[in-house]
Amino acid sequence: MGDSGDSCKGTVVLAYSGGLDTSCILVWLKQQNYDVVGFLANVGQDCDFVDAEKKALLLGAKKMYVVDCRNEFVTNHIWPGVQASAKYENRYLLGTALARPCIARNMVEIAKKENAQFISHGATGKGNDQIRFELGCYALLPGVKILAPWRLPEFYLRFKGRKDLIEYAEQNQIPLSRSKSKLWSIDDNLMHISYESGMLENPATEAESDMWQMTAAAEKAPDTPVKLAITFDKGVPTKVVNVTENIVKTDPLELYMYLNKVGGAHGVGRIDIVENRFIGMKSRGCYETPAGTILWEAHDDIEIFTMDKELLKIKQGLAVQFSHQVYNGMWYSPECEFTRFCIDKSQENVKGTVYLKLYKGSVYVLGRESPISLYNEELVSMDVQGDYDPIDAGGFIKCNALRLQEHSRIKRKHKD
Ligand code: ARG
Repeated sequence: MGDSGDSCKGTVVLAYSGGLDTSCILVWLKQQNYDVVGFLANVGQDCDFVDAEKKALLLGAKKMYVVDCRNEFVTNHIWPGVQASAKYENRYLLGTALARPCIARNMVEIAKKENAQFISHGATGKGNDQIRFELGCYALLPGVKILAPWRLPEFYLRFKGRKDLIEYAEQNQIPLSRSKSKLWSIDDNLMHISYESGMLENPATEAESDMWQMTAAAEKAPDTPVKLAITFDKGVPTKVVNVTENIVKTDPLELYMYLNKVGGAHGVGRIDIVENRFIGMKSRGCYETPAGTILWEAHDDIEIFTMDKELLKIKQGLAVQFSHQVYNGMWYSPECEFTRFCIDKSQENVKGTVYLKLYKGSVYVLGRESPISLYNEELVSMDVQGDYDPIDAGGFIKCNALRLQEHSRIKRKHKD
């Protein structure tokens, strides 16, 4: 398989998943006379990593790296997402988009170590992921060359569909896993599972009920709710307590995985949306993000409790910017470094505990407390006067009314 004969074109680090596409790409790259080093990031996806490693070596990879990136993914990528409460187009919690820069960073480390000139991946030519991978790699390893087979005519004209890939696999002794024909495309990691394409392409068709893997259907979720207490410091979750069963988690990864488990069991975090891809087309996607949904909700609650009103307005604007930067693969851009820095700064006083209940697919906030909240019970009370003079409110309203009166005066004038 291509080791001898023509001279080697160089070393390529391939993002290898163990699946059909990247297995064919691995063999194909070898046939094009590249030395292939496999790289597989563990970001919490459902994968037999030992099996994938063996398979890559069997197919002729010179080396295969499996790197556990889960802690880094949680603390360096998901936590900034929580601090921002970042939602792309108001709904998507960015589970795939947040993982890509983490994968790209670790992949670049391997490329540097192996002195590789090329980086390759199996992302399609229509999606966001090619952009995110490649922008990450270009940013961290300027001058690197990208081999994206799904954008090379000599590859995509030869492999027009799954059938061609399977045929090629059979001809090249690539072991086929028993996965059933693909009904939709999946991207999973510890933050979420996303589903798109295939049967989901018609946006009017309801997703099949057995597609969902991380969350129970709301109607099948337990009849008794579970109560949680989530503690934040600087906008980041530091402790989760299942108050009902007295379970405590403080390690970031464990805490996150635990929330996935309880959230999933109670059917929290399913959405079905249409979104705008960076590349210009709209796409329909289904997502399950149990822990994310709980944390985003809890964070919003403790944030508003502890943050100044005008600061919050600026921060919310930054969060919208941040969501676009992340979605568009701009994690390593100057503007995203800036938004992350500012959002992190905004979170200095975001500290306290939120009490919640999960029940049949919903997250209900039950209460909150904080040692440094800006909520002043005395000031807001209907029963106590506090440090506030009601007479002042009259002037405050009149000053605000000035503008409104001027506005209506001009409107009346235009009518005449
Ligand atoms: N649309 C999502 C995003 O751009 C998910 C993309 C990957 N999902 C997939 N099922 N292949 O972040």
